[in-house]
Amino acid sequence: MSEFQRTLVTAALPYANGPIHLGHLAGVYVPADIYVRFKRLHGDEVLFICGSDEHGVPITLAAEKEGITPKQLVDRNYTMMKESFEKLGVLFDNYSQTSRPIHHETSQAFFLDLYEQGILKRKTTLQFYSERAQRFLPDRYVEGTCPYCGAEGARGDQCEACGSQMEPDKLIEPHSVVDGTPVGLKESDHWFLPMGDMQPYLQQWIEGHENWRENVLNYCRGWFERGLGDRAVTRDLDWGVPVPLPDHDGKVLYVWFEAPIGYISATREWAQRQGDPEMWRRWWQDEGTRLIHFIGKDNIVFHALLFPAMLHAHSEPYVLPDNVPANEFLNLEGRKLSTSRGYAVWLPEYLERFEPDSLRYCLARNLPESRDTNFTWDDFQARHNNELADVIGNFVNRTVTFVTRYFDGKVPPRGELNDNDRQALAAIEEAAERSREQMESFQLRAAAETLLLMSKRANQYFDEEQPWSTRKSDMARCGTTLYVCSQFLRAFAGLWAMILPFSMQKLWDALNLDEELWQHGWVRGDWMLSEGHPIGNPGILFTKIDDERIEAEKKRLEAVLEA
Ligand code: MF3
Ligand code: ZN
Repeated sequence: MSEFQRTLVTAALPYANGPIHLGHLAGVYVPADIYVRFKRLHGDEVLFICGSDEHGVPITLAAEKEGITPKQLVDRNYTMMKESFEKLGVLFDNYSQTSRPIHHETSQAFFLDLYEQGILKRKTTLQFYSERAQRFLPDRYVEGTCPYCGAEGARGDQCEACGSQMEPDKLIEPHSVVDGTPVGLKESDHWFLPMGDMQPYLQQWIEGHENWRENVLNYCRGWFERGLGDRAVTRDLDWGVPVPLPDHDGKVLYVWFEAPIGYISATREWAQRQGDPEMWRRWWQDEGTRLIHFIGKDNIVFHALLFPAMLHAHSEPYVLPDNVPANEFLNLEGRKLSTSRGYAVWLPEYLERFEPDSLRYCLARNLPESRDTNFTWDDFQARHNNELADVIGNFVNRTVTFVTRYFDGKVPPRGELNDNDRQALAAIEEAAERSREQMESFQLRAAAETLLLMSKRANQYFDEEQPWSTRKSDMARCGTTLYVCSQFLRAFAGLWAMILPFSMQKLWDALNLDEELWQHGWVRGDWMLSEGHPIGNPGILFTKIDDERIEAEKKRLEAVLEA
């Protein structure tokens, strides 16, 4: 294997039924973007794919509530979501839509491939049906009591409380979420993927990945214990990808069947735009690709079992995911987020009031990698003020000030290194190596901590070497100190860039380093700034956030709770 890798990173396609909030960001998009940037800074070839998930019941329900068509709803939300991702620096190579023709074609062809191989089974099933509305009510259209754990509000397709998948005839006291009336059952024919038959293969494949996160492996093992059965891949709905077979009016592909194929469609669309339509195969069908799915824990079964089963079953050779780093959930001020009650922090609103890097940082330090974590506005303020401003910003500012005033804005000569200088430089390389290992093993939160420790070390070094006094007593020594400090600046720019792209871009520009290096600026090989290299002033990178602004945010949330 070569040192550099080709990595295809996907972030779960968000439902286009409302704005992105902090829960989505902490669970999926911020870690995915940090990982992608890390890979690029390291020089690896990466493709970052996402798009909006525009079919399925969450979409039609939201459209019905607003009295508009599903297409109107998803197009409006698509544009809004795409913009706010960009403003947060979450930069996909392609952000597509599952309602586009290319996705309909791709997912229909995928279905037909399985169908023509005789893999899909046809069965007559009982589905929820509302006599009153004269229609089938699949999945989230129906709620009831979970037969497995007793939770109320379990959905027609899945119980969020215990994670069980639901078959329509199992749910207790089912009623329509549209009008609250009880629903009955009616026969309907559907196509099934025989996951049960594929269980031995899947089990062996999963057990070959002991390096995966414990939560992901445990979920899968739980599934295997209960036994995988046949899974319906079609639904009785109008909105969706039509089943590409004659006499299937009113039936569409199950959203969890076609949405993951959206990763492939979005890659095809990207390849077409590059003027090389067949290039998508290099990312999906060439063994050299590592496929990584960033998802929240509620998506595990679909990305670790269903989609791999589909990819494996296809007659063409697809790569299977190399890792599925699923995150737990983020709570807000100690409570569960609730989009229906509006108890959330919405990205577009956040971006009107604060800087993107502050949120990326605060989430990176708090990622729910192995357990649920908590976002509080006090913590946000403390991390911004005490870590971004007082540690990173302060160090950049004091170094740039010294270099500008006393060394003509140039990296001073290296001179003779003392032990402290040597240890400081070694600390940078150790932090680069350590954080690289942590990133490679999907411990993003630990990597952020490693970089913070390195940044604290930079300030400590500055304090110990006292350049403000050696400036008067020993100019050569002062120069060596600032030489070492300049290397810290270079390291900040290269290593923090994955988490703080906006501020580090400013630092990078001030360091007069070229754009190409910024793309691959990780600290490795011949990374140091040389004597005489010009250093400009990036300006104040982080302005402190005062209590008033934080109080206002807390009040907003309290108002939601009181409403
Ligand atoms: N829209 C789903 C959710 O928000 C995720 C879909 S991921 C995909 O939970 F792979 F199916 F696209
Ligand atoms: Zn349950």
